Amino acid sequence: MKKEFELITQIRENQSISREQFETLMTCEDAQVIDFLHQQAREVADGIYENKVYIRGLIEFTNYCKNDCLYCGIRRSNAKANRYRLTKEEILDCCKVGYELGFRTFVLQGGEDPYFTDDRICEIVSAIRTTYPDCAITLSIGEKEKESYERYYKAGANRYLLRHETADEAHYQYLHPKELSLAHRKQCLWDLKEIGYQVGCGFMVGSPHQTRDTLYEDLMFIKELQPHMVGIGPFIPQQDTPFAKETAGTMEETLRLLSIIRLIHPHVLLPATTALGTIHPLGREKGIQAGANVVMPNLSPVEVRDKYKLYDNKICTGDEAAECRFCMQRRMESIGYEVVTDRGDFK
Ligand code: 5AD
Ligand code: FES
Repeated sequence: MKKEFELITQIRENQSISREQFETLMTCEDAQVIDFLHQQAREVADGIYENKVYIRGLIEFTNYCKNDCLYCGIRRSNAKANRYRLTKEEILDCCKVGYELGFRTFVLQGGEDPYFTDDRICEIVSAIRTTYPDCAITLSIGEKEKESYERYYKAGANRYLLRHETADEAHYQYLHPKELSLAHRKQCLWDLKEIGYQVGCGFMVGSPHQTRDTLYEDLMFIKELQPHMVGIGPFIPQQDTPFAKETAGTMEETLRLLSIIRLIHPHVLLPATTALGTIHPLGREKGIQAGANVVMPNLSPVEVRDKYKLYDNKICTGDEAAECRFCMQRRMESIGYEVVTDRGDFK
């Protein structure tokens, strides 16, 4: 038996990975070893979640943002971004369509848009909570005060996604404007956890200046935070950002990281992201086969779809919610997985 097989088995058993083991897996060029890595990760996911893939309805409700992250297409300095906001009624319409399609989790994602004050967010969350008491409500609206997070929680939000983007201080500075800090980002995640949210962190794979060392720090941060979810996808340059000419992350690297995260943090809810589906036509299927167990098709109205351009060439921008829903189901069935329409809680 190859020594790398043993190493993967060890990582699985210990639910931990050393810096050296990480190097070995990320630089490995032996396809059999990488297949074994994905297969082991899939086995772990199957052991906990069986052949079920959880589905979340993503509602991108505003692309206004007061931040200026260098990688992101909706950064405030991007004068070319065609800005929009959905009204509360439009958001509720998305939920209605989504509910009828079987979605039991709604993810409200947006830029850090000052128009959506805490009062407005709470009003929207309460309305969804009252109309759909059986659904999970996930927020993904950035860094806020702990008091704000508490208010959203009381209004009925259950989960919160806030990618940490990188757990390395210098790398964080490189990707963000100076008014943002890794320390504050991490504090937000700890606050969210303390309040009782199911919390998701995550990062882009292949972002400019990312190294194996910074990636390893990401893994260590995941071990420390013990999040319920981890969102990772390849970095993809957006043409109107300072990173327009940078190279995109690769599918192979993303798949290896998905598998490693599954092995070291077995119960995690791990999406096969839209970005992964954007860099390869079968990216999301391969993501599931590498250990992911969540997909997040878009529920946003088709009129605004192509305006939420965090990166170039984003898929599904012309498709109605129902098309994405059933497309996703077919895609998952094609690899032997079943899309389930329950809340899909952390096990
Ligand atoms: N490529 C890939 N992912 C991106 N994100 C933002 N910009 C890009 C990009 N250019 C990711 C960030 C953010 C999430 C909502 O989208 O990780 O947290
Ligand atoms: Fe949107 Fe396939 S998931 S069209």
